Amino acid sequence: MTHKAKAHTNIALVKYWGKKESTDNLPINSSISLTLDNFYTITSVTYDPNLKQDELKIDDVSIQGVEFQRVTKFMDRIRKMYQIPYYAYIDSKNHVPKKAGLASSSSAFAALAYAALKAYGIEVSDKELSTVARIGSGSASRSVYGGFVVWEEGMSHETSYAYPLKDADEYALIVCMVDKKEKSIDSRSAMLKLNEFPELKLEWIENTQYLFQEMKEAILEDDLDRIGSIAESHANLMHYVIQETGVTFLTDKSFEIMDLTEKIRLKGLPVYYTMDAGPNVKILTKKKYVSQVLPYYEKVAETIVCYQGGGIESI
Ligand code: DP6
Repeated sequence: MTHKAKAHTNIALVKYWGKKESTDNLPINSSISLTLDNFYTITSVTYDPNLKQDELKIDDVSIQGVEFQRVTKFMDRIRKMYQIPYYAYIDSKNHVPKKAGLASSSSAFAALAYAALKAYGIEVSDKELSTVARIGSGSASRSVYGGFVVWEEGMSHETSYAYPLKDADEYALIVCMVDKKEKSIDSRSAMLKLNEFPELKLEWIENTQYLFQEMKEAILEDDLDRIGSIAESHANLMHYVIQETGVTFLTDKSFEIMDLTEKIRLKGLPVYYTMDAGPNVKILTKKKYVSQVLPYYEKVAETIVCYQGGGIESI
């Protein structure tokens, strides 16, 4: 009754921001991401009939409090949905700087969902796995797959799932680490603020619906310039919306890297930025340009070059 799984994080190019009113963690918009190779979580789940509650270790540290509550609540949902009668030892190791806007919850909850089902011998389709992972963390629904991934918002638990859109073998994403420190507000609390601003929420949904369709086309056409421009527009839109709700994630350094990206582009090199719920800036380009563009970014920030990561796997 034990299973170990590995899931990679993903970075959204059309962002998920905002939740419907539901207990199933349904998003207010569809999103599109790229799964990354060198940020991942490995989680093992071991059910034990003698346990009186779940026990959680993250990076070898025993976890209590809010983080434990979130995980055990998620496990309760899984236990209820799949009639699993036992509590579990959960041992999770992140190869991701935690809470720095590098979406560690995406790999964490995807790996946990998979290991929690497999440890009890439950086999589900990728589609179903994606819905389960989503309950833990929205972005985790996309970490079930490698490459470019679409998460359709759906209207219910069964219809809100991700699917793979296209292989991203030629693409690269350079993470510029602005700040590895933990964020002041987590993405979950920040995105809930949007519900207090109905007009802004509508503006966000309408613009996102349009950019989501555009992005799907651009990816299928393998058009880096179009993908990049849409990703930048949507990241800017999200950070405008976040700002309007009274939260700021970006720092002067983030803006410096965004400006630098525009300058590099003027030299004829295709680079495009995106930022999540943190100050780090991620640069989308193709593998073949990495050696030319990397030195510019290395001068201003610590960088990590990522390529496409694969889907969830047992290890
Ligand atoms: C900015 O998936 O962390 O990275 O569902 O509340 O766990 P919860 O939110 P989470 O939010 C991710 C927000 C984002 C955009 C994205 O990944 O699409």
